[in-house]
Amino acid sequence: MLIWVSLLSLLFLKPVTLSQVLQPLPPSLQDEVNSTVPEIIAKYHYSVEVHHVITEDGYILSLHRILPSRKPINSSVLVMHGIFASSADWIITGPSHGLGYILSNEGYDVWLGNARGNRYSRNHTSLDPKSKEFWDFSFHEIGVYDLPATIDYILGKIQQEEIFYIGHSQGTAAFYVMCSLKPEYNAKIKAQFSMAPIAFVNHMFSPIMHFLAAFNVVFENVAYWMDLNELLPKNGVVNILGEKLCGAYSIGEYLCDNALFAIAGFNLDHLNLTLLPLILTHVPAGSSTKQVLHFSQEINSGHFRQYDYGYWRNFKLYGQLSPPDYDLSKITVPIYTFSSNSDWISSPEDVATLSKQLKSSKGDFFVADGSFTHIDYMYGMDAPKVLYNRILSLMTRY
Ligand SMILES: *[C@@H]1O[C@H](CO)[C@@H](O)[C@H](O)[C@H]1NC(C)=O
Ligand SMILES: *[C@@H]1O[C@H](CO)[C@@H](O)[C@H](O)[C@H]1NC(C)=O
Ligand SMILES: *[C@@H]1O[C@H](CO)[C@@H](O)[C@H](O)[C@H]1NC(C)=O
Ligand SMILES: *[C@@H]1O[C@H](CO)[C@@H](O)[C@H](O)[C@H]1NC(C)=O
Repeated sequence: MLIWVSLLSLLFLKPVTLSQVLQPLPPSLQDEVNSTVPEIIAKYHYSVEVHHVITEDGYILSLHRILPSRKPINSSVLVMHGIFASSADWIITGPSHGLGYILSNEGYDVWLGNARGNRYSRNHTSLDPKSKEFWDFSFHEIGVYDLPATIDYILGKIQQEEIFYIGHSQGTAAFYVMCSLKPEYNAKIKAQFSMAPIAFVNHMFSPIMHFLAAFNVVFENVAYWMDLNELLPKNGVVNILGEKLCGAYSIGEYLCDNALFAIAGFNLDHLNLTLLPLILTHVPAGSSTKQVLHFSQEINSGHFRQYDYGYWRNFKLYGQLSPPDYDLSKITVPIYTFSSNSDWISSPEDVATLSKQLKSSKGDFFVADGSFTHIDYMYGMDAPKVLYNRILSLMTRY
């Protein structure tokens, strides 16, 4: 039912043409198209470091660190991106708008994480990134392996007991996975800020995700047999669906080539159109097909639970026919959630279900601008004003 409502709603998108909105990138930004995150940070005269973390299961992750740009306050924060994304999310909008820079300006020691599989964390001690085995992960493994390894690495470097954690979307789901399956990590986090939280997703609006959910098993098999282990900018079902479902207008065609924009929705009025061509070259940054399949399973089940392999393999792996739920009662970190009515991915109904189950929930905030979308948490022109400032002021309580 919801899928038809979603599809119909696409007819009401405001048509705009590409030439009306997209200008060529100004010369001062052109070098950033082909630069890496650390290169871009250095360009703006912030002190940047690159660190490598090896997970228990052999993935080699890059961590990008921005040192405090003035008056250090001896407090570190890990910022974790969502699906299809990377550390670029927090710097690509420049020093005035990027969350990484804003935290550094406040005196925080900022660590930008990169989950396995994205362009900065595409290496392994033994697996070839071209193999099926390398891509056999979802947000579950990011929560069980990547986050703990990253957090322990940071704590070792700074010689402290605790850090802050700010997550967006999948960066929150993986966090809840970690704290429920490895509860000893609760003590390592001072407070967690969940931007567009993801745990329960059955009220997700995204038409493409509903489509994938409706044909979940078909896609799983097609992806397996066609060897589509990674969702690239230019392959796979998401792009075909993107063109069909949201490419009705010329601007749509351009943006719907982009898996993240097509799935998560966008509001052009919120984006700096000068920066948009640059943003689109840094996202998607690489994700596994299994990440998308895992989320689409949860749309169907209404549960926040481990990957569903079918009765037989579930029984072998989990000792029960359906996958076990993540036990949210194990989470004791103070958590603040931030959501918006216009978010196609993280719906306020689902966030309410989540925060009712979080014993340590400290507050649920609606972003002041009701038309804020899922990608505005990263790229929205107003994000500092309506969101980041709130987080900064909550952080001073700890
Ligand atoms: C970025 O690199 C690609 C491929 O090497 C090249 O075609 C393109 O012109 C470069 N873009 C800029 C703005 O330098
Ligand atoms: C930083 O904070 C930690 C505890 O949070 C403390 O042990 C350490 O001495 C502080 N370092 C400085 C330079 O203030
Ligand atoms: C991957 O990691 C290995 C060390 O484990 C290193 O020798 C190699 O250069 C890395 N490859 C890339 C592309 O970073
Ligand atoms: C958009 O980004 C450009 C380049 O960073 C900047 O010069 C401009 O002021 C921004 N526009 C708005 C409305 O924020």
